[in-house]
Amino acid sequence: MSQRLVATHLVDMMAPVLVLWLVMSLSGTWAVDKGNFKTCDQSAFCKRQRALKPGESPYRALLETMELTGTRLTLQLINDNNKVRLLLELYRLQGNITRVKINELKPLKPRYEVPDVLIREPPTEPLSLLSQDENGVVLSLGSESQRVIVSARPFRLDIMEGREVLMSLNSRGLLAFEHLRMRKDTFSYKVTSTVASVWDNIKRVFSSQVDPEGEKKEEADPASQAEKAKEEEEEEKVEAGMWEETFKSHSDSKPNGPSAISLDFSLPGVEHVYGIPEHADTLRLKTTENGDPYRLYNLDVFQYELYNPMALYGAVPVMLAHNAQRTTGIFWLNAAETWVDISSNTAGKTVFGKMLDYVQGSSETPQTDVRWISESGIIDVFIMLGPTPKDVFSQYASLTGTQSFPPEAAVGYHQCRWNYNDQEDVTSVDAGFDEHDIPYDYIWLDIEHTDGKRYFTWDPHKFATPKEMLQGLMDKKRKMVAIVDPHIKVDSNYKIHNEIRNRAFYIKNKDGGDYEGWCWPGSAGYPDFTRADMRDWWASMFAYDQYEGSMENLYAWNDMNEPSVFNGPEVTMHKDAVHGAWEHRDMHNLYGFYVQMATAQGLIQRSGGVERPFVLTRAFFAGSQRYGAVWTGDNAAEWEHLKISIPMCLSLGLVGISFCGADVGGFFKSPSTELLVRWYQTGAYQPFFRAHAHLDTPRREPWLFGPENTALIREAVRQRYTLLPYWYQQFYHAHRTGQPIMRPLWVEYPQDPATFALDDEFLIGRDLLVHPVTEEGARGVTAYLPGKDEVWFDVHTFQKHNGAQNLYIPVTIRSIPVFQRGGSIIPRKSRVRRSSSCMMQDPYTLYVALNPQRTATGELYIDDGHTFNYEKKEFIHRKLFFANNMLSSVNLAPDSQFSTQSWFERIIILGASKPGKVTLKTADGQESQLEFDFDASMSVLTLRKPGMNAGLDWNVMLQLP
Ligand code: GLC
Repeated sequence: MSQRLVATHLVDMMAPVLVLWLVMSLSGTWAVDKGNFKTCDQSAFCKRQRALKPGESPYRALLETMELTGTRLTLQLINDNNKVRLLLELYRLQGNITRVKINELKPLKPRYEVPDVLIREPPTEPLSLLSQDENGVVLSLGSESQRVIVSARPFRLDIMEGREVLMSLNSRGLLAFEHLRMRKDTFSYKVTSTVASVWDNIKRVFSSQVDPEGEKKEEADPASQAEKAKEEEEEEKVEAGMWEETFKSHSDSKPNGPSAISLDFSLPGVEHVYGIPEHADTLRLKTTENGDPYRLYNLDVFQYELYNPMALYGAVPVMLAHNAQRTTGIFWLNAAETWVDISSNTAGKTVFGKMLDYVQGSSETPQTDVRWISESGIIDVFIMLGPTPKDVFSQYASLTGTQSFPPEAAVGYHQCRWNYNDQEDVTSVDAGFDEHDIPYDYIWLDIEHTDGKRYFTWDPHKFATPKEMLQGLMDKKRKMVAIVDPHIKVDSNYKIHNEIRNRAFYIKNKDGGDYEGWCWPGSAGYPDFTRADMRDWWASMFAYDQYEGSMENLYAWNDMNEPSVFNGPEVTMHKDAVHGAWEHRDMHNLYGFYVQMATAQGLIQRSGGVERPFVLTRAFFAGSQRYGAVWTGDNAAEWEHLKISIPMCLSLGLVGISFCGADVGGFFKSPSTELLVRWYQTGAYQPFFRAHAHLDTPRREPWLFGPENTALIREAVRQRYTLLPYWYQQFYHAHRTGQPIMRPLWVEYPQDPATFALDDEFLIGRDLLVHPVTEEGARGVTAYLPGKDEVWFDVHTFQKHNGAQNLYIPVTIRSIPVFQRGGSIIPRKSRVRRSSSCMMQDPYTLYVALNPQRTATGELYIDDGHTFNYEKKEFIHRKLFFANNMLSSVNLAPDSQFSTQSWFERIIILGASKPGKVTLKTADGQESQLEFDFDASMSVLTLRKPGMNAGLDWNVMLQLP
């Protein structure tokens, strides 16, 4: 938080959070104020749930209620303590996914089920009954000898394949479902005659979900009555947290009372689990037994701390479990505040483990136990059964969709700071890039560009002629992003506010008025983005005639969409705020998802559906990948923050969000020159590549640190631009298949345990391995090169290294250790220009890295770079392969309609032998000899100016001397 901003806009705010921010900002201390955010103990439902002990499950499956109708199994569960019944639904989904839903059989009122995240109602497959007795049922999951065993007493589910247990649900007995109820002090204790009759009616309604036998038994049995009384007494103790809860000065009214849900999963044979972003933590998740669970609750955390499970801006409730044999995933579709406990165990410790030992014949099977706890909603869980990492990615993509395919320019470099002050500033920064010969595609405007933090407007003095400014950028084939936050200044002279208020589009407070909170503009309303009509209206505000001063090269950035409410509990919205029929509590983690969805829709609509949008968001949920890019929020100019950018983006990639980056340079504080250079070198190899800086930091455009450092940054950015064809191709693949772009090594080498915890290096696609230098004063790095049958080529020196080894690489400040996998072909463009759009028709260089079998394959994908026409097959997609001394290009999209002027200017073959002659044969049957150089010391063959068009068939034959 800037002191100036605080002074200008917020000084009159007495909210303790802000006062604290101010104090910390002035004192310059770096540390999150943990006191602003709840621990599990301070979150009543988490505390209640965590107090449950394993092995005491009150749930029993009522097998006689089972119904199996083709693809749907339903079964009632009863809680033997309170006799409340639940309805379990089980589905087998296409593509090796099992879905388990649990809701109350007859809830007092409907419970929230997350809409809009699944791309469709997932198609189901038949389930069949294999056997049944009084202890349970066995169902076939269709393929591959997969079965589900439903045990009745206590209820549990085991998913088996052959003799192997893949996953067990409620095996630790931590299924919990707080049923909706009427508040006792209103309806049963302070009985007035009217209330008493209401209560009678309610009891009548309830009786249909109460086990009549159980009820009778209870009435008759004094022991059980005593037990019940004890239970109620226990409940009383936590009653305050059930019907209302206070945190600091905020109270949460909880009109629906307790509504938490929880379920445990055991993963036999698993020691590594990943995912559940967003946390500033290692790639491999840690056990949480000795601290708080990982928390998923979208929050604006000021000065977030590293290596802990605290919640951050976004939440994707997806966890992956991996061992050398199999990868599986758990997608917990719930948008309320969620906590995830992880413990490591040996299967041998539990009764079930003993059974497993017996079945599997081992004594020390490791096991990871996971437990999910959410504040409200239902249990709706998708169990993705792999078996490979790629299968899990496809399974998850089949549910929530894939990464949106961005305009190619968005894959280039972005220059941002809070703030570029006025149009002259923009013009001079833009010119600086030309002067220093550094390419960039987008320059960004933060909140100060607006007229008093009124989004969709421009400061009339500093940005008086925005179209002129945008036109200037357009002339250079460059673009701009302007911030559009979802908090709307309450100001009756502001069109956007008036419209939202008049259309009753604001989220309501618990008393029915428009919810108001403090954010950048001062008092602000928060549009209810959960409403489709609100989103349509918001989208329409991006039309060129609505958003004055906007043009087609202006794109959008959604920040503060957790939502951030400076004076709200934990700097966010009160949970008892109201979205139509639902409380904010039910869907908090979805708010940011909807904001980005509506904004992307706006950018698409303004172009009549022609242009691909680009929208950056800070808050996100499962499915956010469909709407654009994500960044890791307000990091700091510290080495540890540079390091954590790798696991943070890797974790996001594992759960579908490939388009991820961290603020290059660090947002808070000022980086040393070395750190800045290292950050550019790292960011150049991460999917979203944007420099950003806090308002109060000194300027740090790339040329401000002396010519040597300018050269180093230039080189890093240029490396990004030469690789754009490969990056763009990775985005195309991520969009088509859901595979992550930035990948942990274990994704490609799933059987190699040495890769399982690596998070200081990563792969881009399958073929490039990057081990950025993230240590201050580093003289060398040790990179693990995976694959016992692989070879890897240093992309700068072409030196060849064997796989399955730790390689020490001496480094200088110039070094960015990057390796190309032998067996791959990577297209690059070596003529770097002002922006990616200026390079569209430029020629390609192919880097063919041969494996020990002297073969290689790769691809080339080309389209117009910005429209949706690729959906109409307007693209070039070619397979390139090298075998038997011949390199060929074959069409992977024979019916597609697209042509390019780009041609091949060079082919570099790594690991080659010297040919006698090289013959090019083109599609029209013409043959010609190619000139070449051969570097015998490095075995590098360079074919000069082969000249064929990138979109056509050809082959190049190397004839031995
Ligand atoms: C938030 C964002 C940051 C932005 C600032 C002002 O702190 O995370 O990127 O610069 O708000 O809009």
